[in-house]
Amino acid sequence: MKLFDVYPINPINIVKGVGSLVYDDKGTEYLDLYGGHAVISIGHTNPRYVKRLEDQLHQIGFYSNSIEIPLQKELAEKLGKVSGKEDYQLFLCNSGAEANENALKLASFYNGKKKVIAFKNSFHGRTSLAVAVTDNPKIVAPINETDNVIFVPWQDEIALEQAFAANEISSVIIEGIQGVGGIQVASESFLRKIRTLCDQYNAVFIADSVQCGYGRTGKFFSHDFAGVDADIYSMAKGMGNGFPVGGIIISPKIQPAYGMLGTTFGGNHLACAAGLAVLEEIEQNNLMQNAAVVGDYLITELKKFSQVKEVRGRGLMIGIELPAELANVKKDLLFKQHIFTGEAKPNVIRLLPALNLTKAYADRFLEAFTTVLNQQLVPSS
Ligand SMILES: Cc1ncc(COP(=O)(O)O)c(C=O)c1O
Repeated sequence: MKLFDVYPINPINIVKGVGSLVYDDKGTEYLDLYGGHAVISIGHTNPRYVKRLEDQLHQIGFYSNSIEIPLQKELAEKLGKVSGKEDYQLFLCNSGAEANENALKLASFYNGKKKVIAFKNSFHGRTSLAVAVTDNPKIVAPINETDNVIFVPWQDEIALEQAFAANEISSVIIEGIQGVGGIQVASESFLRKIRTLCDQYNAVFIADSVQCGYGRTGKFFSHDFAGVDADIYSMAKGMGNGFPVGGIIISPKIQPAYGMLGTTFGGNHLACAAGLAVLEEIEQNNLMQNAAVVGDYLITELKKFSQVKEVRGRGLMIGIELPAELANVKKDLLFKQHIFTGEAKPNVIRLLPALNLTKAYADRFLEAFTTVLNQQLVPSS
């Protein structure tokens, strides 16, 4: 049997990882500033994480949500403490798309309405509702098309007000920083406007924190910079440091009912053990503060490069926009300098490293970036 060929892949076989470094099958070392797409939050093979999972595996790996799983309550309590949303309620699932799917559905259960406001350039996942609120017609199949979604231009307050006035809005879904959309930071005033309009029209404010959340920006949720609370936060990626875990946290104003949401795998013992190891590491090693400090340093230094068009982001979620003629920089960083980075359109390099990235590794990247940029300017003979 062949694999269903949907991924354009790099010809590299990574077989080992330690912290922010990974190694291929030939022993070549790479600096990982991509974290497998913002997933590796506390570093590869983090000792606390490995031990937690190993110990749990020797106890029990899985049982369904038909029994008590005290680890879920432990995870909810720790998440409440570390995120500062102690009065919220946790529902666990397995991925970012699934988290958003549950958030949108729950909002509709809550207020009985159908229409959703999403934003231009958004990405919220590939399952039916999640992809319907994603602004990319190429990944929306005919069966996913719906009249229930209104796409409003990014940061356009007037268009947002008009959409509310003309429709029965159930929810608004917004990334605090658009990731796939090219690292676009939502302004604090725009997030506050969403809060006000959601209150005015009894709509649910959904903060998609799948990529920009879990401490990556220096605050637990990047939406927190606006000083207002969303009603539901969706999360995944960094939550399990590679173990598939997702979830939503839900404001106390939304009440649960049996059968409203459900999942077979969500919240299993191994997933909770992974989630707890991540939160313990974030808390005990001040990783949010590290993300803010090392991220600020990188952003400041990157802004000094005259060849760079724009540097955007917060903490360790950074976009470096390059002019079209420097389209090979990402490839050269990987194949000549052995540094993994992410990408987004138009010609944006995305940095999404582990939250415990050191300044020394940041410097290693800055040196390599300088070398690659200098090589791009020398015409090859
Ligand atoms: C902001 C955002 N939301 C949702 C998702 C979907 O997450 P998953 O791939 O785990 O379904 C992603 C994935 O990149 C994302 O960046």
